[in-house]
Amino acid sequence: MTPIYSKISGLGFYVPETIITNDDLTQYMDTSDAWIQERTGIKQRRWFTYGKDTNAGMATAASRMAIDQAGISATSVDLIVYATITPDYYFPGSAFLMQRELGLEGIAVIDIRQQCSGFVYALSIADQFIKSGMYKTVLVVGSEIQSSLLNKSNEGRGVAVIFGDGAGAAILQATNDVNHRILSTHLHADGRFAEELYVQDPGSSRDGRWITEATIAEGNYNVTMNGSAVFKHAVIRFAEVISESLLANGLTPDDLSLLVPHQANIRISNYVQQQMNLPDEKIFNNIQQYGNTTAASIPIALTEAFEQGRVKPGDLVCLAAFGSGFTWASALIRW
Ligand code: COA
Repeated sequence: MTPIYSKISGLGFYVPETIITNDDLTQYMDTSDAWIQERTGIKQRRWFTYGKDTNAGMATAASRMAIDQAGISATSVDLIVYATITPDYYFPGSAFLMQRELGLEGIAVIDIRQQCSGFVYALSIADQFIKSGMYKTVLVVGSEIQSSLLNKSNEGRGVAVIFGDGAGAAILQATNDVNHRILSTHLHADGRFAEELYVQDPGSSRDGRWITEATIAEGNYNVTMNGSAVFKHAVIRFAEVISESLLANGLTPDDLSLLVPHQANIRISNYVQQQMNLPDEKIFNNIQQYGNTTAASIPIALTEAFEQGRVKPGDLVCLAAFGSGFTWASALIRW
């Protein structure tokens, strides 16, 4: 039997229209454009508009673009895999809301979290369903509204300046073409570091109700991040998981056409670029414009790279991510 592979046949993204520059953030907290740019590379990010943008709505817009680019009808989608840590409801997940907006009632949907590695995990799940023969067309999405979670006071400034809102999507389709396909995906996690970057509340394992005046007063619904621990682990795991994907396919960093890393921090990307000895044209960064959009960052970056002609047929493209959990993951693609 001819083996089945999956290929990416369509990409799309959506970002809210409101641009928040570093200078705009000085209205809320004691910070500066120089501090933010030097530490993170970020110049601006997007924040959603209440009443206009929702997590699922942004994902729908990104998905429609990916569906159009793939040249398919939405009704050929067999499965939706949706990554987010900022869903519209506590449950059910935003995949249900997007499925409804796309008019795809009845098809399977899977909501996952996996934080900044969410999109690569979702892509891997989709790839397995296609390779097994169970589904032929899968819509993979990463979407985040971070801005309503952020503590925009001085207390939260170490986190608030980093994150932004947006959504990205990809259509994966079954193919027998060995020369244009996802070559492999590689997934990892280490729960020993769960509390290095997390949001504690609302959680179920509480005395009494899960949201009380006490939980609100404690403020544990804010994002808590040990920035230096995240940074130290990220630089190691990014390089490891990229090398793992190349090694698994008998390839080397020299063979890479483009690395699209999760847009965590420009200093992390620069460090990884240096470790892998990649020239500037072999790495894609757009964190300057959007900040860190967690599960949406890779599909937004990949779509922009594609639109700019930096991803062409035959190219070897590596997607790599690291994030809360900790999680880290990569996907190697022969475009
Ligand atoms: N503006 C101005 N000053 C700020 C600030 C802000 N937004 N945030 C923090 N500071 C201050 C701190 O209060 C501290 O002041 P102090 O020395 O008087 O105490 C100083 O800047 C240095 O803070 P520190 O947290 O040590 O900075 P840092 O150089 O480690 O940079 C991060 C902080 C978050 C940018 C950095 O740790 C990082 O990038 N980590 C990785 C985070 C990441 O990528 N997360 C996403 C993972 S997917």
